[in-house]
Amino acid sequence: MTEVSAKMPSIVLFGDGRDWHGKSLRRAFERRGIRPLVVPLAQCGFSTETATGLAIPGLGDHCPKGAFVRFVPGGSFEQVTLYLGLLHALRELGVTVWNDARAIERCVDKSTTTFFLQKAGLPTPRTFAGVDRSTAEGIVSRLVQEGRSVVEKPLFGAQGKGIRLVASVQDLSPPEDVDGVYYLQEFVPPAQKHHQDWRLFVSGGRVVASMIRHGEDWITNIKLGARAKAAIASQSLMDLAVRAASSVGADYAGVDIIQDRDGRFLVLEVNSMPAWNGLQKVTSLRLSDTVVDAFLADALPKRGRDAEGES
Ligand SMILES: Nc1ncnc2c1ncn2[C@@H]1O[C@H](COP(=O)(O)OP(=O)(O)O)[C@@H](O)[C@H]1O
Ligand SMILES: [Mg+2]
Repeated sequence: MTEVSAKMPSIVLFGDGRDWHGKSLRRAFERRGIRPLVVPLAQCGFSTETATGLAIPGLGDHCPKGAFVRFVPGGSFEQVTLYLGLLHALRELGVTVWNDARAIERCVDKSTTTFFLQKAGLPTPRTFAGVDRSTAEGIVSRLVQEGRSVVEKPLFGAQGKGIRLVASVQDLSPPEDVDGVYYLQEFVPPAQKHHQDWRLFVSGGRVVASMIRHGEDWITNIKLGARAKAAIASQSLMDLAVRAASSVGADYAGVDIIQDRDGRFLVLEVNSMPAWNGLQKVTSLRLSDTVVDAFLADALPKRGRDAEGES
């Protein structure tokens, strides 16, 4: 290693570092003697004038060992494509990226998550996705005839935003309200008195924390006011969460699982950039430490032996 590269950061943390997660991740790295380069993806780009082909402020020609993606900002189709392109490029350079761009793509697009869950043989509610309005109407009328309700979700949704219950064809949103894509899922009626589902936090191939979220409303996101209760999942529920994360190639993930009236657990979604501040409130383990340890074991496998630290 040259003198210059020895001082270069081995880890990049993509995000602005100012939110709760960014700060808590940064502190977790620092407790391990690592000062990550914290940089928002919106300040990064490509350049043929660097050795790596990337333009990441603070790195120059240096290639990091690991990149932790806290946050991919929204933007135009072109901007988001560029951000994901950067993450793909880092992987192509041999950098450990958590989560990898492929996992982020598979999770942000709920229809692709559904595809991978099914491909892995994992239970998930009956789900349909497409652009054509009359096909969507046909699906709703078929499920309604079977006595089911239908959940309409934004393809790129998060935190319960824009999710609606559709009881008839007339309830379907106009195409402009769903950005032209209908993602329709059979409603799973509550198995308990309250509405509730599980959130399991998977990191490095195991469930590190879990909770039940319950609320008055059927959409049990913490952001929408649902309450979190610590709950230890059964081994089979944990296995399901781990398999769901791995089906989309996520190294860490927040997996949402609902139980139906027959007691079956069904995977609702896999979050590749999950928030864990809600879960942290009901968990004694410091989750940022747990994630960072698993990430570093992957990105800097020799670290334990060499005690790599940075000033
Ligand atoms: N098919 C469904 N049946 C019953 N409840 C659902 C269903 N899909 C979603 N929900 C409820 O809505 C919440 C948000 O749905 P989810 O698919 O996790 O999207 P988001 O990305 O917005 O969190 C879930 O945590 C659950 O409470
Ligand atoms: Mg969710």
